[in-house]
Amino acid sequence: MCHKIPEEKTQLLHTDSKVTAQKKTFAEVQAERIEQAQRTVLINCPATISEKKFLKYLSHHGKINSHYFYESHGTYAVVEFSEKDSIASLQDVTRTPGIEEECAVPFKSRIFTLTLKNPSTQATDQTPVHCHKQSTIVINDLIQKLCSADSVSSQLYTLMDEYQLTEENIKLRFLACSLIQDISCAYFPDCTVKPFGSSVNTFGKLGCDLDMFLDLDEIGKNPKRAKTGQFYMEYQMKRVPSERIATQKILSVIGDCIDNFGAGTMGVQKILNARCPLVRFSHQPTGFQCDLTTNNRVALRSSELLYIYGSLDSRVRALVFSVRCWARAHGITSSIPGPWITNFSLTMMVLFFLQKRTPPIIPTLDHLKDQAGAEDKHIVNGHDCTFASNLNKIKPTENTETLDVLLNDFFEYFGNFAFNKNSINIRKGKEQNKPELSPLYIQNPFEQALNISKNVNQIQLERFVTLARECSWILQQEDKGHSSLSDRQPWGLAALLLPSVAQNRVKGKKRKGGVASEQIKSVLDSLRINNANSLVNNGAKVPVPSQAR
Ligand code: GTP
Ligand code: MG
Repeated sequence: MCHKIPEEKTQLLHTDSKVTAQKKTFAEVQAERIEQAQRTVLINCPATISEKKFLKYLSHHGKINSHYFYESHGTYAVVEFSEKDSIASLQDVTRTPGIEEECAVPFKSRIFTLTLKNPSTQATDQTPVHCHKQSTIVINDLIQKLCSADSVSSQLYTLMDEYQLTEENIKLRFLACSLIQDISCAYFPDCTVKPFGSSVNTFGKLGCDLDMFLDLDEIGKNPKRAKTGQFYMEYQMKRVPSERIATQKILSVIGDCIDNFGAGTMGVQKILNARCPLVRFSHQPTGFQCDLTTNNRVALRSSELLYIYGSLDSRVRALVFSVRCWARAHGITSSIPGPWITNFSLTMMVLFFLQKRTPPIIPTLDHLKDQAGAEDKHIVNGHDCTFASNLNKIKPTENTETLDVLLNDFFEYFGNFAFNKNSINIRKGKEQNKPELSPLYIQNPFEQALNISKNVNQIQLERFVTLARECSWILQQEDKGHSSLSDRQPWGLAALLLPSVAQNRVKGKKRKGGVASEQIKSVLDSLRINNANSLVNNGAKVPVPSQAR
């Protein structure tokens, strides 16, 4: 297998390092997108419509900067006006729904429904609108796509291209937050609702949940100080025994508002006794599953830190996306809370591995702290969350290893990691003695006394280790030319995503050879037969076992 970075990716890396000079900080990107979302509306419209007439109609209210359509419980248009005032103008001509069937709660939002006045006479010039995708391709189709790549490196980049959030999807995530902010403003007029987690940390996959942060800290933060006089003024406020109780009370009323007045919000659950209290709901117009929290500022800093790591070198995101996809395909991660490794923990493991390369591909958190300027200083609840935010100040790595090598070495590294005695620590970029007996110990980078993977049990850790060994072994066999795979058969990353990988594993033992190669060969043989059939039936599709769907 070739271990060179494919030429187009080399250019990408070069371009990346040139682009570095103009890279924006996390705060700049967030501020731009939040402002953009405030000038945007969401319109439920017929699936067939004259796009030209639709835009002409809306442009009576002001210049439109951009628009696109997508599907979620109907067809929706996202329309970004150039000025915020256009929204007020549109709201002025918008009717409240009639009360023929159900009575509407008269809370005016930025989500509208557009219908045709005379559907029969207007039918002629309507065409189906082009809808942007909001979800990933199914794993079967992904595996087929990966098979036609020319190296493992390009397979990883292909997977990332397929899975990463699109520009439209990111805009929609900011819009959903902005719509929840409109509701929260009824109680806290100066609040903001910001996305965090994988929606903004560069590791988000299409379809991932939307983590929202209700930010009340700006309220009353910088009052104008009276320059003269001998008095201070302070608000009288309700006092409660702890910050946690205040958080619970705030989320409780906001949860009720979302439930009672939020257009299209469904299944609102107040999970207030969790370690980090939250309100969970489904936002049907955008199709997002949302988790709203407040008083969770460390998570915002984690999101920014991951954004920095993800923006420093294109290999970081490519490896994280593939490892996350691999883990999901084999049930190492799960959408249900439990003793499984989480995506956040997996990302930390990849980052740690990349810090340990020679030379390191990404810097340690302590190094980023040393690079920080005065403006970067952040202490949150006594925890030092300081690190350099300006990407242009961070020196690019001189490491030129390909993703072919990195993927294999990732599995080999963690297949042999001394989890029984060592912890993973991205602040130091070094293994350290575990301070307690949890099977997997990944130090929380900011709240340093905490383990972010405390939930993981021995069984789940062993599943991870065994699969990692199996995958390293498969990649090494291919590398040695032991498998006679044509490029139409699952190979490289595609082979690692097949369910047979998990079924083949030998519990707790290191591979010596033979068994897996026989089993993989038989899967591939059956694929070859199916492939020949499908080539006869429907052209050049590579069939994948049904379990892989
Ligand atoms: P997805 O699985 O794609 O949603 O990834 P995610 O990074 O968004 O994870 P998740 O939605 O579970 O959590 C959102 C954010 O909360 C993460 O990005 C972290 O910043 C933070 N977070 C999640 N789990 C932990 C944890 O165990 N400890 C700490 N300190 N923060 C966490
Ligand atoms: Mg998330």
